[in-house]
Amino acid sequence: MKALRNIQCTIEDGSFVILLGTNGSGKSTLLNAVAGTFLPDLGKIMMDDMDITRFPEHKRAKFIGRVFQNPFSGTAPDMSIAENLTLAAKRGLRRGFGQALQKNIMEEFRERVRPLNMGLEDRLNNPIGKLSGGQRQALTLLMATWIKPKLLLLDEHTAALDPKTANKVIKLTGDIISKDHLTTMMVTHSMQQAVNLGDRILMLHNGKIMHDLRGEEKKRLKVPDLLALFDDIRKKEQVDASAAEMLQINYI
Ligand SMILES: Nc1ncnc2c1ncn2[C@@H]1O[C@H](COP(=O)(O)OP(=O)(O)OP(=O)(O)O)[C@@H](O)[C@H]1O
Ligand SMILES: [Mg+2]
Repeated sequence: MKALRNIQCTIEDGSFVILLGTNGSGKSTLLNAVAGTFLPDLGKIMMDDMDITRFPEHKRAKFIGRVFQNPFSGTAPDMSIAENLTLAAKRGLRRGFGQALQKNIMEEFRERVRPLNMGLEDRLNNPIGKLSGGQRQALTLLMATWIKPKLLLLDEHTAALDPKTANKVIKLTGDIISKDHLTTMMVTHSMQQAVNLGDRILMLHNGKIMHDLRGEEKKRLKVPDLLALFDDIRKKEQVDASAAEMLQINYI
């Protein structure tokens, strides 16, 4: 049994990294390790000069924003949009500081919700649970970045949405990340998203980084180039599998 081993990478401040890889290659496990969903047995996780390896998840949540695949995670469904946003606005503030939030907070909510272009600014008192998946993901994204996180983690956050809504949320994602220069790790299975977004691609397989593409190489990448890299990995895997099979036969 192994869940990742020897993964080593440094994400530069302000970098937008796309994580690609086959099912089970370890993308979510890597994000979970960074977010503190589990504590690793070995290794170190550093944020700036701070060693966060032993920080519990809730402590990391003060500076790490997350959006998951499932639109039902990340928000409190019975609470209104405004109440959810209030929670997001209080993130990272010390207890008691909540009262210091501006009185005209509803106006600020409306202003920041309006650019989502989903008409939600007029529905701030509606429970979040009544919204569509796309609306919820857009709001979750807004909440995760309400107070600028040191790191934003997105795990296939548009995978459960229909293509049109997914595109809308992806556009919003790109806009928010570039406006605030957010350091981001985003998991996707969409080659198109990987080509269009970000400044670096990490391609994972079996818990290993198989390709680390950045700079001009990343900029020049097209969808067929990525598909070819996946094909290479698949072929290599087949060769490895038949080599293992032959070894087994030899042993018998
Ligand atoms: N704590 C753990 N101990 C052992 N194995 C684990 C642990 N957590 C996850 N795994 C395994 O690690 C592998 C990687 O899973 P992970 O969910 O990270 O893949 P993924 O790349 O996100 O895949 P997908 O594209 O399907 O979401 C899987 O085989 C999973 O069962
Ligand atoms: Mg996953």
